[in-house]
Amino acid sequence: EHPYPTEIREYLYKILVIGDLGTGKTSIIKRYVHNIFSTNYKSTIGVDFALKVIQWSPDTVIRMQLWDIAGQEKFSGLTRVYYKEAVAALVVYDITRPNTFEAVPKWKADLDTKVCLPDGQPIPVVLLANKIDLQDEASVGLDGEEMERFCEDNGFLKWFGTSAKDNSNIDDAARFLLEEIMHRE
Ligand code: GTP
Ligand code: MG
Repeated sequence: EHPYPTEIREYLYKILVIGDLGTGKTSIIKRYVHNIFSTNYKSTIGVDFALKVIQWSPDTVIRMQLWDIAGQEKFSGLTRVYYKEAVAALVVYDITRPNTFEAVPKWKADLDTKVCLPDGQPIPVVLLANKIDLQDEASVGLDGEEMERFCEDNGFLKWFGTSAKDNSNIDDAARFLLEEIMHRE
C-alpha cells in the first residue's frame, strides 16, 4: 500500500474541427462525445464547444476541448481568433462532394498561417474523409496510396475514413491524434 495518493496528471487540450460547410464536423463531435447522431442539419453559427474527458491511463486524465468551427464562409474572418492556442486539429471533408475535398488544402493553409505550437512547429493535423457509409463509385479520395501521398504533400499526419452515422473510425482518429499530442509533451 502506498503511503501517499498517486499523483494524477491532467492535461487540457484545445482541438479544432474544421472543414467545409456540411461535411459533418458537428456530427462527428456529437458522436464522439455523446454517442448520438441526427440526420437533421443545423449549420453551426460561429463556433460550438464540447468537452470529452478521457481516462488515458491510471494516472493520466485528458480533457479534450473540441472547437466545432462553422464551415460557412461568412465566419472565415474569425478563424484567427478561434485557432488561438490550439494544439491539434481535425480537417473534415465529405466523400460525396468533391469540392469539399478540393477545399482541404485551403483549410490546412489557413491553419498553418494562423496557429503553431509554442516551439514554432505546425500543429498536428489529421484528415477525416467523412460519410463513408455513403461510399459508392463516385466517392472522392478513398484510394489508400493516393490519400497517403495527399497527406504527405499537404502536411497531414494521417487520414481516416469516418462515418458519424455508423460510428466508424472516429475513436481511432481521436486516439491517434491524442497519441501524437502526448508524444510532443
Ligand atoms: P457546418 O456547421 O454548417 O459547417 O456543418 P457541419 O460540418 O457541422 O455538418 P453537420 O455535422 O451539421 O452535418 C451536415 C449533414 O450531414 C447533416 O444532415 C448530418 O446528418 C449529415 N452527416 C454528417 N455526418 C454524416 C455521416 O457520417 N454519414 C451520413 N450519411 N450523413 C452525415
Ligand atoms: Mg456544424
